[in-house]
Amino acid sequence: MTETNKTHHIIYGCMGLGGSWDDSPLEKENIEEARKAIHAALDCGINTFDHADIYNVGKAELAFGEILKENPGLREMIKIQSKAGISLGTAGGFNTYHSSKEYFIRQIDKSLKNLQTDYLDTFLIHRPDPLMDVEEIAETFDYLKSEGLVKRFGVSNMSTSHIQLLQYYCDMPITANQIQFSLKHAALIEEGLTYNITKFSQNGVGDFLPFSKLHNIEIQAWGALDNGLYLNDNDLEETKAVKRLLEKLAEKYDTNPAAILVAWILRLPYNIKPVIGSTKPQRIQRCAEAAKVNLSREDWYLLYVTARADSLP
Ligand SMILES: NC(=O)c1ccc[n+]([C@@H]2O[C@H](COP(=O)([O-])OP(=O)(O)OC[C@H]3O[C@@H](n4cnc5c(N)ncnc54)[C@H](OP(=O)(O)O)[C@@H]3O)[C@@H](O)[C@H]2O)c1
Repeated sequence: MTETNKTHHIIYGCMGLGGSWDDSPLEKENIEEARKAIHAALDCGINTFDHADIYNVGKAELAFGEILKENPGLREMIKIQSKAGISLGTAGGFNTYHSSKEYFIRQIDKSLKNLQTDYLDTFLIHRPDPLMDVEEIAETFDYLKSEGLVKRFGVSNMSTSHIQLLQYYCDMPITANQIQFSLKHAALIEEGLTYNITKFSQNGVGDFLPFSKLHNIEIQAWGALDNGLYLNDNDLEETKAVKRLLEKLAEKYDTNPAAILVAWILRLPYNIKPVIGSTKPQRIQRCAEAAKVNLSREDWYLLYVTARADSLP
């Protein structure tokens, strides 16, 4: 990994690092696992790392910070992104969303301490908070930028109209939306191609891809591997045809099924960056092979139609 300005097609998702989703302390073996995963990603040329204040209750960022500390010079070679906005278990054990200026500043300060860095390359608002005051968010972004704490801003799980609204008030460009997208969870394209056909249900995400292209918004696809649904040994009837096809295409393109799955996302002519969440070095390396695969139009459609288990209208 050499350049810091050029980002890889794939983002490494750090949600699995640091142990478990509880108050247990960060252990040596958690750090060791993080070290191996981070170095596997770096060895593949992946140089953007996705965090959130809540991942494993802060331990994902803590583990990452340990690796940064032991690798002087690494910070400048990578991009670190984090999110805030979900407050774990704060309403009678249920999560709530927060988006006040004071809350974001406090959470970002905590993330920076845990990560052992003094700035985030990107900060994303984790979820759309119905109580979000967009003018206050604009003020917050200005403050974070002017203090040098955050370089660029984005959102996660937000609609086009949320983004338009935020952009109307914010001077800082909204540069990214991290949203669920995969071969299995493909509503972003499904709704576009079944637009105005009564028998297909729509929940309004179909305009997001054209919107993102028009406004130069990077799409970060979380859940890109569907938690290994098509990659693991399982006897699910619904996965059999896709698994067989992935194997066949892996042979044809001289790669592995995970790379085909990721390449299916990268083949779309939008700025989509799959966020890969495996903690296993070999799985990370298999996904990264996608950068070398250019699926043909026919193979892209074959995979899509096989996964949706229905022909196109
Ligand atoms: N913005 C949001 O709301 C949001 C929500 C969820 C996630 N994210 C981000 O997106 C990243 C990825 O999300 P994700 O972890 O839900 O999705 P993913 O990348 O689709 O799946 C990765 C998960 O699947 C497991 N897995 C099982 N078999 C696998 C196989 N054969 N190959 C690869 N992985 C396999 C991995 O476990 P192993 O570690 O054992 O390989 C890991 O837990 C997260 O790390 C996080 O950064 C964001």
